[in-house]
Amino acid sequence: MGLQAEVFWPTLIWNTTLPDDQKSLLLKVKDYIVDLSKDNPEGVKKTNYGGWQSKSYSKYPDELKPFSDAIDEAIKPCAQQIGVPELKLKNFWYNINNYGDYNKLHNHRGSVLSGVFYIDVPDENMGKINFERSDDIAYYLPPLENYNNVTSERASYEPETGKLLIFPSWTKHSVDGSRSKHSRISMSFNYGVWMKYKYNEEKSLKELKTYIDSTYDAHYSKDKFQATEFIIDGGHGEGFCIGNILKYAQRYGKKNGKDRKDLLKVIHYGIIALYVNELENLNYETK
Ligand SMILES: [Fe+2]
Repeated sequence: MGLQAEVFWPTLIWNTTLPDDQKSLLLKVKDYIVDLSKDNPEGVKKTNYGGWQSKSYSKYPDELKPFSDAIDEAIKPCAQQIGVPELKLKNFWYNINNYGDYNKLHNHRGSVLSGVFYIDVPDENMGKINFERSDDIAYYLPPLENYNNVTSERASYEPETGKLLIFPSWTKHSVDGSRSKHSRISMSFNYGVWMKYKYNEEKSLKELKTYIDSTYDAHYSKDKFQATEFIIDGGHGEGFCIGNILKYAQRYGKKNGKDRKDLLKVIHYGIIALYVNELENLNYETK
């Protein structure tokens, strides 16, 4: 009887390192990131404990060329190998880790491939990255003398200047605390599939958000939102929202001509109506 082994759900981790003669070009990138961190010393807090993490960007700046082009190129065969469509950059950010700084276990929800590119790793023991499996194998296997690709619990990589790691975004990973007094600089990125919208929905969603944010900023907004809250609490939220949707839909093209704000108001009242609907469902479920 010929038994055939088939591999299901393997975890692929791709890595490459820049040739030594190109590593010196990274010094400029390093300076650029250090300057960014000085402009915004607080950074953002996500999975990082300590250290500095920049905000998230959606487009590579010229300062990152030619490395950003190289990452774009590297992603293509990885996507092909796992059989997913062509991927585009979703976002990226910079990290500066110092002594003791680490990243807790996480993955990158909403993307397909993620990765890290080490821009400056001037010392040893600057925090290796550990990819962990999530099938609890530790509860099943006896202690083994040697662990291989099937039996090992984690795959770890030491950081190194110019090293690029790419991995499926669902692979959980953490970063050990740095034991060096120097700073380690890296950038992390996510690639995914962009929906091909036909009617500029993405642009309009941004416009809508800017509009909604502005209604919260307006100095009179407090009373207005309080009034809306009373109406919703009184059980008249749905009628109030639908009434306003009709009001602004009918006003569009009349009072102030084809004022985009009227359409934005229609959508905003639609969103508030969704909130009211959710509240009603919640009340119904808890009855
Ligand atoms: Fe990560």
